[in-house]
Amino acid sequence: MDKNGWARRLGAALVLGLSAGLALADSPANVLDNYKAQAKAAGVSAGDTVRGQSFFNSTHGNEWKCASCHGAVPTGKGEHAITHKVIEPLAPAFNAQRFSDVSKADKWFRRNCKDVLARECSAAEKADVLAWLITLK
Ligand code: HEC
Repeated sequence: MDKNGWARRLGAALVLGLSAGLALADSPANVLDNYKAQAKAAGVSAGDTVRGQSFFNSTHGNEWKCASCHGAVPTGKGEHAITHKVIEPLAPAFNAQRFSDVSKADKWFRRNCKDVLARECSAAEKADVLAWLITLK
């Protein structure tokens, strides 16, 4: 292969690598879009920040609220209600790791919602909470 051929191949490999990297890296905004799209498909409005804040700070039949471990305004560290282990801030502006991986966010939503609501959160509930978390600066 001539020099240009290799350069083209290298260019194509770079573009592929970059787009694969971009496809893997989630952000709070696209995790939110993902939940909003799921809610929309179910015919429900989602992404309401006022509703998200109130959801986060209310009990839902069980003893705990989301705020019980994460704090009422989760811009600072929280503390696990049982183990007292420190929980890093949940608001993405205060913790760059947050909502950078949709499968991690899903895993914890599933687990925490079961503790707080005795069921999984709906896509609309997740979108409301995340929309509110994104507004915290
Ligand atoms: C009993 C304590 C507890 C309660 C109650 C709780 N959480 Fe959590 N939450 C945790 C822990 C522990 C983690 C994982 C450790 C970490 O990521 O810092 C976590 C992580 C998360 C994450 C992962 C975000 C990411 O991308 O890293 C989300 C989302 C979340 N919680 C949402 C909620 C919501 C919504 C509620 C209310 C329905 C809630 N949590 C209630 C303890 C709790």
